[in-house]
Amino acid sequence: MDTLVDIKDLKIGMYVKLRGDWIRGTDLKKEFFITDPGQLRQLQNLSLRYDKVYVDRDKQWVASHLDDISHPQETAADSETNEPHQSHRFNPQERQIIMERVKSAAADPSMEPGKKAAAVYYSVKELMQELFECPTAEFIKDTKEAVGSLVDMVMEDDEAAHALIQVTQHDFYTYTHSVNVGTLSVCLAKKLFQKDPSHDMREMGAGFFLHDLGKVRVGKEILNKPGRLDEHEMKRMRTHPYQSFKILQETSQLSEECRVITMQHHERADGTGYPLRLVGEQIHDYGRICCIADVYDALTAKRSYKEGMSPFSALKIMRDEMLSHFHKEIFNNFVLLFSK
Ligand SMILES: [Fe+2]
Repeated sequence: MDTLVDIKDLKIGMYVKLRGDWIRGTDLKKEFFITDPGQLRQLQNLSLRYDKVYVDRDKQWVASHLDDISHPQETAADSETNEPHQSHRFNPQERQIIMERVKSAAADPSMEPGKKAAAVYYSVKELMQELFECPTAEFIKDTKEAVGSLVDMVMEDDEAAHALIQVTQHDFYTYTHSVNVGTLSVCLAKKLFQKDPSHDMREMGAGFFLHDLGKVRVGKEILNKPGRLDEHEMKRMRTHPYQSFKILQETSQLSEECRVITMQHHERADGTGYPLRLVGEQIHDYGRICCIADVYDALTAKRSYKEGMSPFSALKIMRDEMLSHFHKEIFNNFVLLFSK
């Protein structure tokens, strides 16, 4: 049902419908879900000429309700299974040493590509482990810095980038999954965008690595549950894209464009994803990239209830049974990452 809503009352999560003549000269589409504050500002600028827009209430997303969900374990979740949790904190000097290690290894032309990739991968993983325990603005900033060094290495050193894909490990932990998805997504983005200066690869890379950060607000009891999630638990789990977005917004980290990665990494091209059930062109390229890497890593990862698939089997299932979920050309480029 379409209702007229004051532009000043619009919120993230609403589905707006605009008249063609209203959006002339802007890059707004005629109909879309509001997914970030940048869109809200663009809509508010329209209010110079118009006070109200149509909102389809049937398509209203639950964002406004998500704020009401309490966050029982905001700093806990580090694992997707009932694996024992080991507390992991570095003091500031230790963290500095790890960050230096990433930076110097990533930029060292004399280091053998396999060693370089391993040094960077494991160091970033250590920082990510800590970040998932304590997602403060300071730790996010440090992690971004380290991810930036990894991105620079991928962009400058083809052999190290390839070695990085080989070195990805699979275990039960959310932070390992995040590093794998981040790594694969950065390599795929390099392939797609080459060195096109209109894409900020460091910023985008941070978005890929931090896409699941919101899981720290889902609650350890849900993330660690060994069996199937019930309906309520699943609903809560599915808030994590929005929670990731919120953490990055609250800590003023990442550009608005790159925060969208967190919101869209579970969207599917055929509209079967979440949280907004976006379709095709409604999904940003960065979200499409992260979605493909995310599915691949989920298939190849071990869980308490399954062994991980081989890369070949995972790519085959994605091609044969899940292709409607992905942007086809981006998926074809993803497959090529493994072809060397
Ligand atoms: Fe996710």
